[in-house]
Amino acid sequence: MRDKIREIEKSAVEEITLAVDADALEKARVKYLGRKGLVTELFKNMSGVSPADKAEIGKLINALKETVSKALDEKTPVLSGGSDSGAQKTDITLPGIIREIGRLHPISKTIEEICGVFISLGFKVVEGPEIENEHYNFEALNIPLEHPSRDAFDTFYLNDKWLLRSHTSPVQARFMETNKPPFAIIIPGKVYRPDATDASHSFMFHQIEGLVVSDNIRFSDLKGALTLFARQMFGENTRMRFRPSFFPFTEPSAEVDISCILCSGDAAQRAPHKCSLCGGKGWIEILGAGMVNPKVFRNVGYNPEKVTGFAFGMGVERIAILKYGITDIRMFFENDIRFLRQF
Ligand code: PHE
Repeated sequence: MRDKIREIEKSAVEEITLAVDADALEKARVKYLGRKGLVTELFKNMSGVSPADKAEIGKLINALKETVSKALDEKTPVLSGGSDSGAQKTDITLPGIIREIGRLHPISKTIEEICGVFISLGFKVVEGPEIENEHYNFEALNIPLEHPSRDAFDTFYLNDKWLLRSHTSPVQARFMETNKPPFAIIIPGKVYRPDATDASHSFMFHQIEGLVVSDNIRFSDLKGALTLFARQMFGENTRMRFRPSFFPFTEPSAEVDISCILCSGDAAQRAPHKCSLCGGKGWIEILGAGMVNPKVFRNVGYNPEKVTGFAFGMGVERIAILKYGITDIRMFFENDIRFLRQF
């Protein structure tokens, strides 16, 4: 009996050590510890052992069972996780798999940054469709039929009813029709204009529209919000200039400039060498804005005697170009990894 135990131990340990895969290991487990396994069989044979030897033999079989279980347990993690040769460990000298980590496109990054400033002021982000109809792109915004931007040359028409929106302002009208003031919203998105592509024009670009409507919104609120935005975006010392302008959907309207971020509008820098960014003017235009035209309020069913509001619209590419010192708008859309990697 003792010899048999020793024999079984030797062959079990050998088989387990040499097992090359999980299957072989499982076979060894069944062969020794299974219901009809060799070790199990030994326990069954205990009845034939003389009473004097019973205690000792019992101990030996228990020890054998433990040895086999332990050998199985130790081998299992080595073989699991791969069906190829268990004798082979991971080769740590192989070169690693380098994962390319993606990043945000500079335009997405700029949109997030701009929206972030306004979100911190309590604005909510709203989106609208890129395929629009004439009503929202023009009529609701008080852009009359004879206005030059209605001309097919200035807008991509899909058919005589639908077009690619030429600005994000139509979302103003869509939002107001289905929501009640007070609210403050920011509308990022793509817009389309059939411009010939060059360093500063693209047939598709991005805008961010802002709209605030409540019962007592004043021009000073517009100035405050935009001044805070410009300082967060371009630095604390940025100065603002509001020039009278015209948009059919705002009255009064303004074009908004910031002090040149390259020369700061500094007179000493302007002469005799003209600044390459502002051309010596000292100011750079960044957006259009104004107080919402009462006609627009009437078009969406608001009472202009009861509500006032301001709106603004800016080009995202323009902001990104200024912020990062980019010289050609086409770089944003060429997908050249050498350009995109820099952000
Ligand atoms: N929609 C105008 C444009 O595309 C910008 C603008 C928006 C101006 C809101 C005033 C108010 O040029």
